[in-house]
Amino acid sequence: MKKIMISTGAGMSAESGMPTYRDAGGLWENYPVMQVASHEGYLRDPALIHEFYSNMRQKLAGGIEPNEAHKMLAGLEGEFDVEIITQNVDDLHERAGSHNVLHLHGELMKVRSVTHPERVYTLPSDELSDKGLVTTVDTVDPYGDHVRPHIVFFGEDVPNFTPAVDLVRQADVFVVIGTSLVVYPAAALLNYVRGGVPVYYIDPKPVPVPPSVHVIAKKASEGVRDLIEALRKG
Ligand code: OAD
Repeated sequence: MKKIMISTGAGMSAESGMPTYRDAGGLWENYPVMQVASHEGYLRDPALIHEFYSNMRQKLAGGIEPNEAHKMLAGLEGEFDVEIITQNVDDLHERAGSHNVLHLHGELMKVRSVTHPERVYTLPSDELSDKGLVTTVDTVDPYGDHVRPHIVFFGEDVPNFTPAVDLVRQADVFVVIGTSLVVYPAAALLNYVRGGVPVYYIDPKPVPVPPSVHVIAKKASEGVRDLIEALRKG
């Protein structure tokens, strides 16, 4: 089966009602990025970090659903060998039914021990002192260790980048959906696609990309429909 590797960004979830980061009305508009999304900000004001991600988590769990584009990608699994590499911290690909999802920037519905990062908890978790979706600087795991959002902040390593590169190198078709391609190393994945492999980029406001890339300047739901047509022809 052909291997289709799909790299998704915030635009993938825009039609579900998840705000993107850099568009007008985006997530960063009301919060200074370096306070809520950097390692330095986390060290300076962990309470604000807990508040910000707890709010997002409640929003995600409180009625945000996978959109048509998530569902169409999940439906492709019968026809193709599909792997999704996402910069998104939401769980909408999984909820739509995709089985192979690699999160580059962490997962909103998870927290981990500050001192033992291998201890990861999916919320809500009975193992934590706070049993709901909201965590604070006082939330501890069963070992008494504090937890933090399982999110990759600016200034931190991206442990899933190496496995992502391995996947991209195997791609027979590479697809990029809904990302402004400004955050590295995620944006660099394109550089690992083998020569001659078709690359598609779906985004209503695409940023400049090499001329060999097939740009579909549409929102995700419409663009994924066009993509599937092209894949079936090819
Ligand atoms: P951005 O907010 O930078 O870019 C969102 C992209 O989605 C833009 O190119 C929009 O044109 C596009 N877009 C908007 N609506 C769309 C729709 N309906 N369908 C398809 N595309 C649409 O978000 P990312 O590129 O994902 O990292 O941002 C990358 C990283 O920056 C995030 O993962 C986040 C942030 O720092 C962390 O939190 C670690």
